[in-house]
Amino acid sequence: MRWSKTFIPTVREAPSEAEIISHKLMLRAGMIRMLSAGLYIYLPLGLRVIRKVENIIRGELNKKGGQELLMPILQPRELWEKSGRWNAEELGMLTVENRAGREFVLAPTHEEVITDLVRREIRSYKDLPKNFYQIQTKFRDELRPRFGLMRAKEFIMKDSYGFDVDEESAGKTYHGMEEAYRNIFKRCGLHTQVVEADPGAMGGGMSHEFMAVADVGEDVIVCCSKCGYAANKEAVAKNSSVKEGKPCPECGEPLETRHGIEVGQIFNLGTKYSKSMGAAFLDAGGEEKLCVMGCFGIGVTRTVSAVIEQNHDENGIIWPPGISPYRILILPVNITDAPSMDLMEKTYEKLLNSGMEVLLDDRDVRAGIKFKDADLIGIPLRITIGQEKAKSGIVEIKNRRTGEQIDCREEELIQKLGGEQWTLKK
Ligand SMILES: Nc1ncnc2c1ncn2[C@@H]1O[C@H](COP(=O)(O)OP(=O)(O)OP(=O)(O)O)[C@@H](O)[C@H]1O
Ligand SMILES: [Mg+2]
Ligand SMILES: [Zn+2]
Repeated sequence: MRWSKTFIPTVREAPSEAEIISHKLMLRAGMIRMLSAGLYIYLPLGLRVIRKVENIIRGELNKKGGQELLMPILQPRELWEKSGRWNAEELGMLTVENRAGREFVLAPTHEEVITDLVRREIRSYKDLPKNFYQIQTKFRDELRPRFGLMRAKEFIMKDSYGFDVDEESAGKTYHGMEEAYRNIFKRCGLHTQVVEADPGAMGGGMSHEFMAVADVGEDVIVCCSKCGYAANKEAVAKNSSVKEGKPCPECGEPLETRHGIEVGQIFNLGTKYSKSMGAAFLDAGGEEKLCVMGCFGIGVTRTVSAVIEQNHDENGIIWPPGISPYRILILPVNITDAPSMDLMEKTYEKLLNSGMEVLLDDRDVRAGIKFKDADLIGIPLRITIGQEKAKSGIVEIKNRRTGEQIDCREEELIQKLGGEQWTLKK
């Protein structure tokens, strides 16, 4: 992609409403723009990152047998009355009325719709287990939307719903999802702690949260840096021996307090919704049973914020390669120099042909601005084409994270980039 053709409106100073680093950097790097409080436009660069996260999620969930579908955001009131959640304050539901006076909700979550589908379509134990998921916009009328994509009114969530014949099978689904989540966050370049959680408004039995450790996190967790044990606020409140300085219950090391961003949560729901919504099936003996359910969420857009909180320096974002909007940035220092332009076009062509995602900074702006923007938008590898070295067909490769830099002959570029050192290193 040529920078001049796409739309990456970088700015030097973040608007004053941005309080935390990820929000500032997303605005400055031209990834997002605000429409009004808690409502954001995802610009081309931001959307590329979101799509990468989504595709990592798809890959890991499909491996676990997940089936992707897509459910409506606008949902009739009757369904929510059936589950008993029409008046659930804590969900922040926004309700609307149509011209005929019928009431709807802009869904904050989708248990009602999926359970109703299963009620209508699934009859027998032979049809189970099923694990459905979608990547869909959610609406929550947050009282204090803040921190950019971290706490928005409209955001993208991946939500999965498991339907099993019994608790044992549901337990397997639960652990499979926990494993998938660990892989997803790892591939996104995010360091997370899994903590036991309170099921809250979702109801049901067991729940765990995935917390991205970061100073700006709104959740407090107590954890052990040695063995990875972690507990959230509620668990800490229940057990006075789990607090900062006390020995870790698993290994004895002193516990530490950290802040975490909740990027995902998994729930074992039992039969709460299958009961209220009537999702039953016939078992092998012909007896009617209720589906045992689980629901599993990941905040896709919040994950992007959390990744930036954990991956940046004073100059800008440092994308983990797996979710970077582009893998390589080509930066010609002087676009009026003919040999540089030749080398630039050749390099661009070659990298595109080898299947790499490349951004070419062909803008007619000062080199200083290009270098600043390169660090700001954080593409893992930068290929600089300088006037002097271009004469002898040499480019510079620089690693955004480590700062490591080498010269490379244009002919050897693909081979060099194919090696471990330059493509995979964080
Ligand atoms: N307002 C929001 N903006 C962006 N992402 C959100 C928002 N609310 C929830 N999420 C994401 O969706 C995931 C699943 O939703 P869940 O119902 O568990 O959220 P939640 O526990 O209400 O979140 P929180 O406690 O932060 O309000 C969360 O783990 C989080 O990553
Ligand atoms: Mg949650
Ligand atoms: Zn420990």
